[in-house]
Amino acid sequence: MNINGKDYRAIWLSADQVTVEIIDQRYLPFDFVVEPLRNVNEMAIAIKDMHLRGAPCIGVAAGFGVYLAALEAQKKEDWQSFLNQAKDLLLSTRPTAINLHWAINRCFSAIEECHSINEVIKITKKTAQNIADEEVATCAQIGQYGLQIIKELAQKGSAPLNILTHCNAGAMATVDHGTATAPIYAAFEQGINLHVWVDETRPRNQGKITAWEMEQNNIPYTIIPDNTGGYLMMKQKVDMVIVGTDRVAANGDVANKIGTYLKALAAHDNNIPFYVALPSSTYDPQLPEGVHSIPIEERSTQEVLFIEGKDQNNQLKSLQLFSNQAKAANYAFDVTPARLITGFITEKGIFKPEELKEKLK
Ligand code: MRU
Repeated sequence: MNINGKDYRAIWLSADQVTVEIIDQRYLPFDFVVEPLRNVNEMAIAIKDMHLRGAPCIGVAAGFGVYLAALEAQKKEDWQSFLNQAKDLLLSTRPTAINLHWAINRCFSAIEECHSINEVIKITKKTAQNIADEEVATCAQIGQYGLQIIKELAQKGSAPLNILTHCNAGAMATVDHGTATAPIYAAFEQGINLHVWVDETRPRNQGKITAWEMEQNNIPYTIIPDNTGGYLMMKQKVDMVIVGTDRVAANGDVANKIGTYLKALAAHDNNIPFYVALPSSTYDPQLPEGVHSIPIEERSTQEVLFIEGKDQNNQLKSLQLFSNQAKAANYAFDVTPARLITGFITEKGIFKPEELKEKLK
């Protein structure tokens, strides 16, 4: 992604080959901070506390986390137990995004036959880098498939084409290009007249990252409070919805940021196409259905009770929104049933829920 004239990924292996660097998303859009991560513990904290976030990016981070663990294991007497502890630590960071499990399992399968820690280091490094590169290529391909849908809708309707998105399923959530945003970037590059409604996405306000990405790409956008989508859809000010996802069950049920389900209901009621963009790494064929089976992360209620922003002195501040006695709940994700989804935009094509099992295996 182009940031102030320089090409960046959300996460990369630094030139020293033993440090992983990430764009620390806690400071966006105000400050551009690169955080170096030097061991598996730092990586686990970065994932859990959302210095980085978004399912594919979490997967890539987990892959690099295994590599960092391998580097540390070199100095341990029992390197195998150290690696197993590192695996458990990484797996415990965030429960909903299946990419975390997928990437960790891929790294550990790759080292199954290794007899020395040096071999493990070599293979985990290569596997983590491959995962990152593949996710970037996958997202670019999602962009090309999604572009076809946008083109068709743009030909039918009046300009600009209004696309609504929830949370951030952009370059910051996926290493580069994004999933939900890749078709938007591809369409904008082709000169299609479009405008993006960006859901604020309380409580963590990932909409600010989407808005920042739109700015970097000169794409017209408007931030809206989370409750606005239904009204806009009724007034025919939304032509399509595209969201990302953290896990898709075998039957096409979709876990995504809390509030996605309400957008899908409103889109269904107003006959507006509702698309989910995902790489294969987000598909979980082991779960027959998602509504009852996908684990939903519950995060600290502090994220609801306080809000972060900059004050007039340009200082980042956290402000209390409710009384000291206030109780809150903070479910980070919800599950949208497959019946509400028009189609899945993947790197292998555009599919209906019932086609996923066959096409993404
Ligand atoms: O809690 P987050 O910010 O990690 O949640 C991110 C989302 O829900 C995204 O929409 C999803 O991971 C898709 S990212 C391509």
